Amino acid sequence: MSSMREGTHTVIRREDYAPPAYLIDTVDLTFDLDPAKTRVLNRMRVRRNPEAPVQPLRLDGEELNLARVLVNGAGTSFKMDGGQLVLESLPDGADPFELEIFSTCAPAKNTQLMGLYVSQGTFFTQCEAEGFRRITYFLDRPDVMATYTVTLRADKRQYPVLLSNGNLVESGDLEAGRHYAKWVDPHRKPCYLFALVAGNLVHREQKIISRSGTEHTLQIYVRRGDLDKTEHAMNALMASIAWDETRFGLPLDLERFMIVATSDFNMGAMENKGLNIFNTKYVLASPATATDTDFANVESVVAHEYFHNWTGNRVTCRDWFQLSLKEGLTVFRDQEFSMDMAGSPSARAVKRIEDVRVLRTAQFPEDAGPMAHPVRPDQYVEINNFYTVTVYEKGAEVVRMMQTLVGREGFARGLKRYFERHDGQAVTCDDFAQAMADANPDSELARLLAEFKRWYSQAGTPRVHASGQHDAATRTYTLTLSQSCPPTPGQPVKEPFVIPVTMGLLGADGRELPLQLEGEAQHAGTHRTLVLTQPSQRFTFVGIEQPPVPSLLRGFSAPVILEQDDSDANLLTLLAHDSDPFNRWEAAQRLTLRRALAAVRAPGPVQADVLDTACLDALRSVLRHPELDAAFKELVLTLPSETYIAEQLDEVEPQRIHAVREAMRSQLAHALHEDWVWAYEQHKDTGAYRPDPVNAGRRALAGLALYMLCLAARDNGNPVWPGKTYQRFKDAGNMTDRFQALQALVGSGHALAQEALQRFHAQFQHDDLVLDKWFALQAGQPDRGGHVLPLVKQLMQHPDFHLRNPNRARSVISTYCHSNPGAFHRSDAAGYVFWSERVIEIDAFNPQVAARLARALDRWKKLAEPYRSAAREAIARVAAHEPLSNDVREVVTRALA
Ligand code: PHE
Ligand code: ZN
Repeated sequence: MSSMREGTHTVIRREDYAPPAYLIDTVDLTFDLDPAKTRVLNRMRVRRNPEAPVQPLRLDGEELNLARVLVNGAGTSFKMDGGQLVLESLPDGADPFELEIFSTCAPAKNTQLMGLYVSQGTFFTQCEAEGFRRITYFLDRPDVMATYTVTLRADKRQYPVLLSNGNLVESGDLEAGRHYAKWVDPHRKPCYLFALVAGNLVHREQKIISRSGTEHTLQIYVRRGDLDKTEHAMNALMASIAWDETRFGLPLDLERFMIVATSDFNMGAMENKGLNIFNTKYVLASPATATDTDFANVESVVAHEYFHNWTGNRVTCRDWFQLSLKEGLTVFRDQEFSMDMAGSPSARAVKRIEDVRVLRTAQFPEDAGPMAHPVRPDQYVEINNFYTVTVYEKGAEVVRMMQTLVGREGFARGLKRYFERHDGQAVTCDDFAQAMADANPDSELARLLAEFKRWYSQAGTPRVHASGQHDAATRTYTLTLSQSCPPTPGQPVKEPFVIPVTMGLLGADGRELPLQLEGEAQHAGTHRTLVLTQPSQRFTFVGIEQPPVPSLLRGFSAPVILEQDDSDANLLTLLAHDSDPFNRWEAAQRLTLRRALAAVRAPGPVQADVLDTACLDALRSVLRHPELDAAFKELVLTLPSETYIAEQLDEVEPQRIHAVREAMRSQLAHALHEDWVWAYEQHKDTGAYRPDPVNAGRRALAGLALYMLCLAARDNGNPVWPGKTYQRFKDAGNMTDRFQALQALVGSGHALAQEALQRFHAQFQHDDLVLDKWFALQAGQPDRGGHVLPLVKQLMQHPDFHLRNPNRARSVISTYCHSNPGAFHRSDAAGYVFWSERVIEIDAFNPQVAARLARALDRWKKLAEPYRSAAREAIARVAAHEPLSNDVREVVTRALA
């Protein structure tokens, strides 16, 4: 089986790191591009690493046909060992020698989309993490950095555009209708940042002058016909460049910065030096085809990849265990960028809430399941399995906590120190934390650095328990915070974490109280950060007349589960008054979550009245609030997800959770009917389309209102709102309004949904990204009597369904298995059987996509019977299949352990 790695699942350990035996200073690559057989000539200047013991040179290679190996121009002996090319008789001494390797590969047959592949007639590469070895034999590890010269040769008519990293230094015609282009990248880089693109593409170009007065050329390459969808990405790129200069003093170091879009891509995008390659999903956006969410995603992914130019490319990772060094930091940077772009405090909070939602619904379950790993993992079988929400999003939270501990300016200082020390190097997470601490010697971070770094080494989500005691006689309030962290695979016992708890105290009337700790000379304002370092700690506030309402973990100041059994009255006070918008939202979540959990746990059939009047009234007053932003209201009025509810329970009955949440939605729809009508009418018109947070927020709220109105209509048979929704669907001036209307019809199961879906398909059948939405909407719809699985199978037979295209496969299969628990967890086990068949089927040609799908049953041990046994059986079926990629094997083996 060609897609299966040679050799078996060896465990790679962080503690086994050893510097490379050889260093490669320069690489000169010549490609004769041909889809069936591409010839690659690789000429390297190599020398022994003076810091490593003398040993043979072992070059990584995968699915290559080796033709010739020359050392200083002469043939040499070599052997093959587990896919590696081993050279034993190399020149002695420290002098560099020239190593020339000639090999071929077959891009058209590359279905894994790693290395060199063809997508819709265009050549692309993907080298992170270990794809370069599928292009040529090399020391495929990030601590080997070289300067690259790349010559591309190809048929001129089919591949008029030839791109690689750096600057174009030469180009011209060759015989037989071929042409060539020569690129030189002046920056040393690890091979995972290498890229080439060859095809028939068009581009948008923008010249900019940076602060220092240098001119740069920005280009976005897409397929003919997509050019009008690149304006937003270009604006995002320019905004990112300006932001990094202003906020962190980091300029663009390239004459030419290129983005290329491809519709076949395993991930979101890739930060290859000067030549970013993007999934079309995160480049293309036009008001007619992209939703507000798409626009926001394009902005943040463009920013993310651009920010990697410093955090990742100028300073890179020593080894792949350090992945969060670049990813956690860069996610933090793109989150901050999006917040700064959003503007108002409320819009910033909305972004923060969205990020925390991702953390809680994806990372917390990961941290509590079989794949739990520290932000800096200790071992892996397949590194591709560790591009996770833990490394990315929890890693970003760790960086955010550092900023909280040293302050915004201190953080910028720390980043500056990091680049002063490590520019051009391949380093570790420890190096980053050290630079931060050294630049802020008087900070809590510096004082507690060793303890703080447990965030990198210990997996699992810490729990913080909070309880308060008011003493009227001494006018004090004592807050006791204690922490614990459940065991995770390989880590039975945890040391305490350093947990910044940003907080405030409110009076019963909602006013913020001054915060003065015992022993302090004066109060420190009404908002401060306590640092929890011990298993349990007490903080005594003085001058507190009445029992206060604590507002803890403001802005979600640490990635922990806060356990606080305060009264509904307190939560209602926070919802009505907290100056911290995050905690205001959180109060509503906790109120509704509490009720959802009670209804799930209650015996007997699910009752219709899960929410009580007080709760409904509170939600209504948020919806009707004269000052709150629409975007914020939409978040408050959105109930906790089924996944989040499930995470709170020891034993999960997915159907019951689904039923409870549906009951709550239906209750909200009916009890607030008049308010939804009002909200829709107030927010439905946003004028000429602009994707900014204010307008997007208005559309989001109008969309939710419409959904609620259709839900209510389903129960009372009133055709008015579905009719209006269908009309809005037809007349919509932008994709957000149109898609929301479609969602409302499909989600409420209205008869008009079929007609709308057909119409939508007819209108957008030539736009892949819109079709992905069309597929995903159907696969993700609420289940009614088990109708979704047959529909999913039917969708896979649709002429527009292409299993080998990752976006399309995910739109149907991952949406169903990962994002539709009510439909996936069937008591007849058919969802799990479907899952196991698709994992095996996809693994045969794309292990990365298969391994991500394989994660859908991570939490099977929590399931109630009969789900639990059925899930175990399905996982075991996958595990027993031969052959299986290392990627999928690692996931299912850990799941069964
Ligand atoms: N490094 C990319 C990013 O986060 C993600 C990626 C990883 C893309 C591996 C492709 C392959 O920006
Ligand atoms: Zn990244």
